[in-house]
Amino acid sequence: MDERLAEDFITYLSNATRNKTIYPSGHPIIVRSLMRTFQILENLLEEKNEINIALIGDELIFEGTALHEISAALYGFTRGLRQREIEKITFLKGIKSEEFSGLIDILSMAQEKLKNSGGPIKVLDSRGVKNITLGKIGAPKEVQLEPVRGEEFKAQAKQYYRDAVDAIKRIVEDIRFKKTINIEKARFAINSMVASIQRNRTPLVTLASLKAHDEYTFSHAVNVAVLTIVQGEALGLDRQTLNDLGVAALLHDMGKLNVPEEILKKPGKLTSEEFDLIKLHPADGAKILMKTAGISKLAYVVTFEHHIKYDLSGYPVVSREKGGLNLGSMLVRIADTYDAMRSNRSYAKEVPPEKTIKEMEESSGREFEPVLLRKFIRLIGIYPPGTFVRLDTNEIGFVFQTNPADPYRPRTRIVIDSNGSKIETPQEIDLEEKVPETGNFRRSIKESVDPEQLGLVPDEYL
Ligand SMILES: [Fe+2]
Ligand SMILES: [Fe+2]
Repeated sequence: MDERLAEDFITYLSNATRNKTIYPSGHPIIVRSLMRTFQILENLLEEKNEINIALIGDELIFEGTALHEISAALYGFTRGLRQREIEKITFLKGIKSEEFSGLIDILSMAQEKLKNSGGPIKVLDSRGVKNITLGKIGAPKEVQLEPVRGEEFKAQAKQYYRDAVDAIKRIVEDIRFKKTINIEKARFAINSMVASIQRNRTPLVTLASLKAHDEYTFSHAVNVAVLTIVQGEALGLDRQTLNDLGVAALLHDMGKLNVPEEILKKPGKLTSEEFDLIKLHPADGAKILMKTAGISKLAYVVTFEHHIKYDLSGYPVVSREKGGLNLGSMLVRIADTYDAMRSNRSYAKEVPPEKTIKEMEESSGREFEPVLLRKFIRLIGIYPPGTFVRLDTNEIGFVFQTNPADPYRPRTRIVIDSNGSKIETPQEIDLEEKVPETGNFRRSIKESVDPEQLGLVPDEYL
């Protein structure tokens, strides 16, 4: 995709929309800008069968690539989309200029009028437009429901996870001993993880759940990378962006190496002086990464922003005029908070997944971008793959796959029966199954449980 052409198209599209609201209909300026925009679109559609524009948070995503650079200029356009509740526009090959002009009408129509006419999708439909679709960003792509993706594939995922742990270890040493940071290993591990997640996200998500135990091990960084890539992949970001995003997520906390260990590991509440030192880590981390060869701009933006909340509170303190956060920062923030809560911290014990989700949902819209948070929950479920659960039948199950239709009823195997005996070959059960006579579910999850307390070895179940 020609990036210039893409940016031109978005700029022309927003201008055409604005012109329509300024000039009387039929005015030559409107006609000209409409034609020019349509021409660019036709050029773009020469190479592709469809062109997608998505609005996520404050960011426009064009064909899977976030248009960071021009997003400020497009403020009015993105706001218009948001007000009309349009999250996605798809242009199909063969689109006619009348159809395109129908879309511009909708984008420039007064909100009230649009609402009274039944909303954008209905209006577009009533005009017989076939080659443009509007919509909400759908639910994440369904998980492939193949029972096992092959032992080899799982072993590979394990290897990538280990590689990423090694890579982050190496980088930490480089920084500690003031050596030149070599990120090649990290890049390589992340690229493999991206490819693995694009094929099937479950093995790496399972590993991220199984390994979420201690915030100050390297697995936290790797888990944040996994959970960030998974989100980005579901948003349809392209591979290059996913690679950059994964590296960014892996390195988000490097600034913590400047914080004395006794503060990081202090049990209990920090004094405000101690907390001030912690607050330096995003900017410190960004500085380290800016000096590192081969790092994308995204990595240091994300590092700088990962403790800024969606409402722009948090730290470092930023001006409200700054505009919204980078999409990557919002994704990393969700992944980072989730994994940190799932881990044992010096000042708090790990929180069960269902409670973590509940607490995060409670601060949706303040701490987290609400659409992204909702999508994250749909993606990993309330009980993500890798979680052990107690059922209302007193059996213990192991969640091995999410259920996009119902996050409370993931695909589960029974590993301990209701008498407390371990089952050698765990059997899959269907949590959506109902008892015909009563119409009630045969089994439901009561709560997640810590496998170690039950004498189970989590690794055996991957
Ligand atoms: Fe941090
Ligand atoms: Fe973190």
